[in-house]
Amino acid sequence: MSHFVEEDFIMNRTLSRPCLVAVKILRTNAEDRARADFLKEIKIMSQLRDPNIVRVLGVCTGEEPLCMIVEYMKYGDLNQFLLDHVLETPSAQAVNAKILSYGCLIYMASQIASGMKYLESLNMVHRDLAVRNCLVGMNFTIKISDFGMSRILYSADYYKIEGRAVLPIRWMAWESILLGKFTTKSDVWSFGVTLWEILTFARDQPYHNLSDDQVIANAGHFYRSDGQQILLPQPIVCSREIYDMMVECWNRSDCERPTFKDIHMFLLRKNMGYNPKDEKLNQLKVPVC
Ligand SMILES: *[C@@H]1O[C@H](CO)[C@@H](O)[C@H](O)[C@H]1NC(C)=O
Ligand SMILES: *[C@@H]1O[C@H](CO)[C@@H](O)[C@H](O)[C@H]1NC(C)=O
Ligand SMILES: *[C@@H]1O[C@H](CO)[C@@H](O)[C@H](O)[C@H]1NC(C)=O
Ligand SMILES: *[C@@H]1O[C@H](CO)[C@@H](O)[C@H](O)[C@H]1NC(C)=O
Repeated sequence: MSHFVEEDFIMNRTLSRPCLVAVKILRTNAEDRARADFLKEIKIMSQLRDPNIVRVLGVCTGEEPLCMIVEYMKYGDLNQFLLDHVLETPSAQAVNAKILSYGCLIYMASQIASGMKYLESLNMVHRDLAVRNCLVGMNFTIKISDFGMSRILYSADYYKIEGRAVLPIRWMAWESILLGKFTTKSDVWSFGVTLWEILTFARDQPYHNLSDDQVIANAGHFYRSDGQQILLPQPIVCSREIYDMMVECWNRSDCERPTFKDIHMFLLRKNMGYNPKDEKLNQLKVPVC
């Protein structure tokens, strides 16, 4: 039995023209844990309505395989999208590389902050915010997805603890790593890491020079405030003010971290006058020989 959560949408679409969708299917031999996670993800995601959160169009939970139909995002995940691009510079334009401007990077980050602001207003915690869990559509639209796990494709980003879930420790607040505490404020920490990934074009894993054990030890330094904690460095393409905001996301005390509402407003203000339409023009610009 399939159950459409978005009947009006489906109806209107079927009456006019076909539309592309993405279908997420749980493999039939999945373990109970994966099945439970998938059902939980379906339940959460089908209630959400925000322009920066991937929309669930329909689900099928009555029979195997379990599946979820979500809107299709043309350019795939933001991690891959960033890897495929370079910063807009005269030399990048000259070789006709795929480029993104600094304004576009901030524009994409502000959309993630906006989607997270919506979750914050519902007191809902994502737990796995990272560029790999954001999707890119037309016109640099970004939508947050994966309230469960994109953990097969990116398994190197997850730390496996015997008998426990796999954890994206490099994106996690110290209190999530050490105390298992996940809140909107630990999502804010992860947002800081996600913003760092965007501004570094996802070229390196966060704390790439630290082993998993050293990342966990680093969480201990945050906890003890012993002055030995290592922060991610300021990206080359990043204003001082934006880096300061990122560092606030990693404050030891979760109540000192900004809210998503603050972050969203801050990024909008920093990016005033930016229009994604100009990006299109840039991309089409023919290099002058
Ligand atoms: C679908 O069509 C109905 C009736 O024409 C309308 O009330 C509804 O708002 C439409 N839904 C969407 C998502 O366009
Ligand atoms: C993208 O932008 C173009 C031109 O600005 C517009 O015509 C189009 O509808 C937009 N597409 C989406 C999916 O927003
Ligand atoms: C990793 O790099 C950071 C900054 O780039 C540095 O402070 C730290 O000492 C390095 N850690 C190791 C274990 O090399
Ligand atoms: C945390 O935030 C408070 C208040 O803004 C600030 O005084 C403190 O220095 C910050 N702590 C760290 C470790 O950044």
